[in-house]
Amino acid sequence: MKTLLPYMKKYRIFAILSPILMILEVLADIIIPYLMSKIVDVGIANGDIDYIVKIGIIMILSALLGMAFGVMSAHAGARAGYGFAAEIRKDVFRKVQDFSFANLDKFSVSSLITRLTNDCNTIGQVTMMSLRMAIRAPFLALFALIMAFNINSSLAKVFMVAIPLTAFFITIILRKARPLFKRLQTRVDRVNAAIQENLTGIRVVKSFNRQEFEEEKFRKRNDSLRDTALEAISIVIFLMPIMNLIIYGTIIAVLWFGGQQVRIGSMGGGELISFITYITQVMMALMLMSFFFMQLLRGIASGSRILEVLNTESEIKEIDKPVKELKDASIVFDKVNFKYPGSKEFVLKDINFKIESGETLGIIGSTGASKSTLVQLIPRLYDVTEGRVMVGGRDVREYDIKALRDQVAFVLQKNTLFSGTLRENMKWGNENASDEEIIRALKQAQAWEFVSKYKDGLDHWVEQGGANFSGGQKQRLCIARALVKSPKIIILDDSTSAVDMTTDARIQKSFKEELQGVTKIIIAQRISSIKMADRIIVMHEGRIESIGVHKELLSKSPIYREIYESQEKGVIGG
Ligand SMILES: Nc1ncnc2c1ncn2[C@@H]1O[C@H](COP(=O)(O)OP(=O)(O)O)[C@@H](O)[C@H]1O
Ligand SMILES: [Mg+2]
Repeated sequence: MKTLLPYMKKYRIFAILSPILMILEVLADIIIPYLMSKIVDVGIANGDIDYIVKIGIIMILSALLGMAFGVMSAHAGARAGYGFAAEIRKDVFRKVQDFSFANLDKFSVSSLITRLTNDCNTIGQVTMMSLRMAIRAPFLALFALIMAFNINSSLAKVFMVAIPLTAFFITIILRKARPLFKRLQTRVDRVNAAIQENLTGIRVVKSFNRQEFEEEKFRKRNDSLRDTALEAISIVIFLMPIMNLIIYGTIIAVLWFGGQQVRIGSMGGGELISFITYITQVMMALMLMSFFFMQLLRGIASGSRILEVLNTESEIKEIDKPVKELKDASIVFDKVNFKYPGSKEFVLKDINFKIESGETLGIIGSTGASKSTLVQLIPRLYDVTEGRVMVGGRDVREYDIKALRDQVAFVLQKNTLFSGTLRENMKWGNENASDEEIIRALKQAQAWEFVSKYKDGLDHWVEQGGANFSGGQKQRLCIARALVKSPKIIILDDSTSAVDMTTDARIQKSFKEELQGVTKIIIAQRISSIKMADRIIVMHEGRIESIGVHKELLSKSPIYREIYESQEKGVIGG
């Protein structure tokens, strides 16, 4: 937990102020019953009205002061708690941004969301409460005990039964509750996972009529969350009646023994009243302490989930003094073998090839042939397992990651746009891009033809995920966004699959004419998309089956020929 402490730095003042103010509030709480006993035993007993008024005013002032300290302490505590949580959240978010694809595979997105929202909130709340309760409870108990002993030490012996009894029950309850709080967080994770998966895929769910199945899945997880929460609560609720029982038992004992002392005159009636108040305060303090421990358990459960994220090292590490500039845009795969972290099988086996700056490389092969996996190694979305990938004559692992990714534009197969204007989306490629540069990229990607028709042009609004564009439009916008970067290498992973053949041909033409120095890697399903490439790789089950130009492959690669013939037939046939 110590690792989290530095996040409190900015809110240190409040974290210190809150308990100090709390102690002042406790002092006011403590003095009031004492003043009351004075009114009864001195003022009322002697019929001294002046004394009663004087002490009464002091009592009211103490109460007001206590209230003011209480409010300020609560305020400071809230600031410290939620500020602390915000700082942690900020850092966890930053950490997740640095995560490699492999890290993201390991933590699921939904679990990261739970950790960023729910767990951070819990830490904030728990901190706020601990700053107050953890200080208030022991101080209140201590002061009230001292006062009680002061008034009547023989009567104070009731605590010798009441306190151990309370401690005993609290320990039992906490021991039972502890594992439940851990389980509770995992259950929240599972519910969030169901929600997140369903909402991101809501259109698919609807088109496959899977609502009922999804509801059922959600219901199960939701029920199990409810049951765990109920289980945890049902243990915790016992605390209250047990504590009440002990408090009232103690009060009855005090009234019994104290009453006899009052009758024989060895104790004032007012003293008895304030004694009872102090007893209640001690017991309340104990109850507060047990609540605090309970909260602490929740906080620890959440804290360890946060630390899990913070302590995860990105799989993709930079070397000291990384290289910032790419000499050229040549690419070499040298005896590359690759398996996904955590999986046993190699999905890339013995990959060797070289392309020069400015060349176009086409990659074709059935789905699952590892085409996407292969190109992901170039901007280091994953690192090779064996062998090396070189860009500009250097191992990609020698580069500054940001510099490398700035130079390598990657249009992912599962690409997405973000809510905002078109201009904002295009500027992802380059923050400083001018409208002219954006429009040029849109033209190169053949997206300008539909964007230019919008009345609001580049201010046109993009819905979350780009939902207000057709598949082909979205793909062209994603290509344009990559081009805005003016990269040295551009990779299109099946990025024109939803674009019609004519537009696809125009994109190829503009790539050839306008991106002459740029190395282009194009993964495609259609032979027509890569036919004109300087070199074509045919992938099959994680290996390079053949490599060559279109004509060569037609004669030497049976797979290529088969794809070609099936597509030609398709065209001729209809
Ligand atoms: N993130 C991942 N973790 C584990 N295995 C993966 C991951 N992504 C893809 N694979 C596996 O790698 C193989 C190649 O996938 P991929 O490169 O996406 O093929 P392609 O792009 O040619 O269709 C498949 O068997 C797939 O199951
Ligand atoms: Mg793919």
